[in-house]
Parts: sequence; structure tokens; C-alpha cells
Amino acid sequence: MHPDVSSATSANPAERRSFLVRFAAVFTGTLAALFPFAAGWGVLTDPLRRSRRTTAGDNSDPEKFVRICPLDSLPADDTPREFAVSEDVADAWTHSAAQRIGAVFLTRSVKDPNLVVAFTATCPHLGCSVDFDAAKNEFKCPCHASWFDKNGQRISGPSRRGLDPLPVKIASDKDTKEICVQFERFEAGIAERKPIG
Ligand code: FES
Repeated sequence: MHPDVSSATSANPAERRSFLVRFAAVFTGTLAALFPFAAGWGVLTDPLRRSRRTTAGDNSDPEKFVRICPLDSLPADDTPREFAVSEDVADAWTHSAAQRIGAVFLTRSVKDPNLVVAFTATCPHLGCSVDFDAAKNEFKCPCHASWFDKNGQRISGPSRRGLDPLPVKIASDKDTKEICVQFERFEAGIAERKPIG
């Protein structure tokens, strides 16, 4: 037998074992180093996966109605009036009370003062804020001149749908009645009414 062949066949298994031992040591060492980092990253990013809207004026309300104003503060005259929508916003690090998250138009009926209708003040075209033109008795969007009637129906302009209505409930709170709105945002620029999130 040739001497070189003999030494090569006896050395290879030992080298392979040595390599595998080193590889296993490096692999387990890397895993051990990464484990705390991965666990910490999960803790850090977990709050980001949670909802940032935490209260809607009433924490016990699973439908997330937001309190807007006392019923008596809205005249029963069939005229839309704009109100800010505010709620607490929180994540694991911060809590900000009463942050403005949007605006709504509320109209209280002359015939039935307990009847209130609500529209989001966001234009369904591209998201500008609409105004109510009292002289014309219509809503208008100043950005690209979409017009809507008092019932939110589209009259003219580039918007592909009418104003987005929002569910309203009148909540009794001791001696006062409060107007609450289920506030939602909708996708802009499309004919269908599609809630975001
Ligand atoms: Fe209102 Fe364009 S955003 S008409």
C-alpha cells in the first residue's frame, strides 16, 4: 500500500469530526446569542401590533361609539353642524387623552328631536374636509368641487359616491342625553363604501 494513501484515509474522519464539533459549537453559540435579542424584539414590537385606539368615550362599549355632544346642545332645526371627534389614543409607551381623530356633521330633525343623522366630514373623493354651505343648503368640498345634498347624496363633482353616513345612538347619562357616533373611516376614490381597517 502506498504510504500517502494510508495517511489520507486515516486523517479524514478525524478532521471531519473536528469540523463538525467546531460547527456545532458556533451554531449553538449563535443561537444562544440571538435568543435574548429575538425575545426582546418581540416585547418591543408587540405594542405596535395592538390597536392604538383604546377608548371611544365609553370603554365598556364593544361597538366603539364615540361621545360627541349632549343632545340638547344640537338645535333641532334640520341644519347640519360640524363637530370634532376625539378619543384617547394609547400604545404601550404613550397615552394621549382626547386626541382629534376626525370630524362629523350632525343634523337633528325638526319633526323628531330624538332623531339625529351623522355623516363623516371627510370627502369620499380624495379625503378633504367638506363644508356645509348654509346659503345653498348643501355640502361642498373645496378641493375639487364635489357637491352633496343635505342627505349626503352626491349632486355633482368627481366624488364617486355620496357622503359616508355613520350610525348614531342617543345614550342616556344620568340626566343628560348624549349623541354618540360609531366613527369610521372609508376608502376614498371608489364608488363602494368600504371601511378602512
Ligand atoms: Fe373632495 Fe376631491 S377631495 S372633491
